Amino acid sequence: MKRNTSDQHVGVVQEVEKDVPKEQFVQSVFESIATKYDVMNDILSFRRHKAWRKFAMARMDMKQGENAVDICCGTCDWTLSLAEASGSGKIIGLDFSPSMLEVGRRKVNNHKLAENITLIEGNAMSLPFEDHKFDYATIGFGLRNVPDLVQVLHEMKRVVKPGGMVVCLELSKPTWQPFKGIYYFYFEKILPNLGKLFASRYEQYKWLPVSVSLFPGRDELAKIFEQVGLQHVEAHPLTGGIAALHIGIKEI
Ligand SMILES: C[S@@+](CC[C@H](N)C(=O)[O-])C[C@H]1O[C@@H](n2cnc3c(N)ncnc32)[C@H](O)[C@@H]1O
Repeated sequence: MKRNTSDQHVGVVQEVEKDVPKEQFVQSVFESIATKYDVMNDILSFRRHKAWRKFAMARMDMKQGENAVDICCGTCDWTLSLAEASGSGKIIGLDFSPSMLEVGRRKVNNHKLAENITLIEGNAMSLPFEDHKFDYATIGFGLRNVPDLVQVLHEMKRVVKPGGMVVCLELSKPTWQPFKGIYYFYFEKILPNLGKLFASRYEQYKWLPVSVSLFPGRDELAKIFEQVGLQHVEAHPLTGGIAALHIGIKEI
């Protein structure tokens, strides 16, 4: 019998929660799509992710010489922007997928930024850095994928300096009709098929709408930032709310 969309969601969630722990499932997804990740990002977001990253960098207003850690850095798009903005500052990219990091490493070398960027294989849930080390901790399209987003935000807050910034760019849930209806149709019905067509991966791209549906909405995530103890929390909707930028400051 053909299952409807919500049944399919239940199926993927059950796979994540019961049979395979979320971390292991997510890692296998990114290991399997690493070489197609960048091109798929452009196709699936209609290249909007580039404008979102630019907006994030503008709000951060990073200064020359400042340092940052980019958590869940994947293929390093944001890591590269951080390094370009900080000039002499040192940037660390951390991810648990060796294949995503390998694609990122090639891009870092192509941009001749290997002296500014260090890539580390590690887990966002337990960052291998001392307290108060960085001016910024960023996470791009990663928070949705971790087993415990509150723990990751605590870790990000721990490793930034007092006055430092915790920044999250993530997919979100549009609320405005009729855009919302069109968007969910694209996201749930069309997007996994595009994943199948262009990357020969259907199940992996089915995870995307599921992970967004399980993730807190924009206002809820802003509250979580505050509960974690971050101050001056900003939440910016992007492209009709399909993505959002959250920023919080660690108290001085
Ligand atoms: C959607 S990609 C985002 C990559 C990149 N930040 C970007 O903006 O394009 C999510 C990344 O998070 C990584 N990831 C997911 N859970 C993680 C965890 N617990 N620890 C470290 N990396 C993780 C995945 O391996 C993947 O590279």
